[in-house]
Amino acid sequence: MRRPLMAGNWKMHLTLDQAEALARGVASGLAAQAVSDQVEVVVCPPFVHLERVSRALAGSPVALGAQDLFWEDEGAYTGEVSGPQLVDLGCRYVIVGHSERRHVLGESNEAVRRKLEAALRHGVRPILCVGERIEERRAGRADATVANQVRTALAGLTPEQARQVVIAYEPVWAIGTGEHASGEEANRMAGLIRDQVGELFTAEVAEAVRILYGGSVKPANVAEFVSQPQVDGALVGGASLEAEGFVAMAAAAGGRQGGGEA
Ligand code: 13P
Repeated sequence: MRRPLMAGNWKMHLTLDQAEALARGVASGLAAQAVSDQVEVVVCPPFVHLERVSRALAGSPVALGAQDLFWEDEGAYTGEVSGPQLVDLGCRYVIVGHSERRHVLGESNEAVRRKLEAALRHGVRPILCVGERIEERRAGRADATVANQVRTALAGLTPEQARQVVIAYEPVWAIGTGEHASGEEANRMAGLIRDQVGELFTAEVAEAVRILYGGSVKPANVAEFVSQPQVDGALVGGASLEAEGFVAMAAAAGGRQGGGEA
């Protein structure tokens, strides 16, 4: 059985005080719902807020994640942040290959692969993001694009490493747009991703890997995704910035009441 995962990507939002308040709100809301046995919850603040959020989450089951990392462990890499530095701050997860990094900052599949390896080397679980652009979907190349992203990123990992990876299917056209894939299509794409993992590794690894959907997930539509058999939770951007709604989505992913309201 795969344990559902609800992850919040706070992107480049919030002041330090706002980030701390949100972290406290998520931790206390989750405690009130008593769903942490059924669902794993992760928040990914900006790097500069990690330490404060880490303190705010101390003693709660909410895990800390970062939004990126560099593939080298240390050195003259101005502006970059390493795996060991994330471990030091208590990060258990790190987002790798988010579409905003691929498409706004030009990150290649090869860069994504090196970052994934670095995260695994330091015992930080990567949340690997994949997803097609609207032109690729219109041209009938969504499946091939996503399969290629998965295969390039995971190439060279051992089966033990591969099973640590969480994969988020985030169609680029659905991110921050209010448009989203249908539950059925999210399920089909998650199945396609699982098939790639099975071909690269083993059926057992494919069964173990958690696959999330991301792209305009909100309390009002989360149930459509987390009820799909191939979808093991969600990676949420905008709607993760509000504690009550985020906790409701986590509860929905954990199979409890809480999703559904606007
Ligand atoms: P939105 O939920 O704001 O569409 O963002 C999705 C996302 O990019 C999460 O990583």
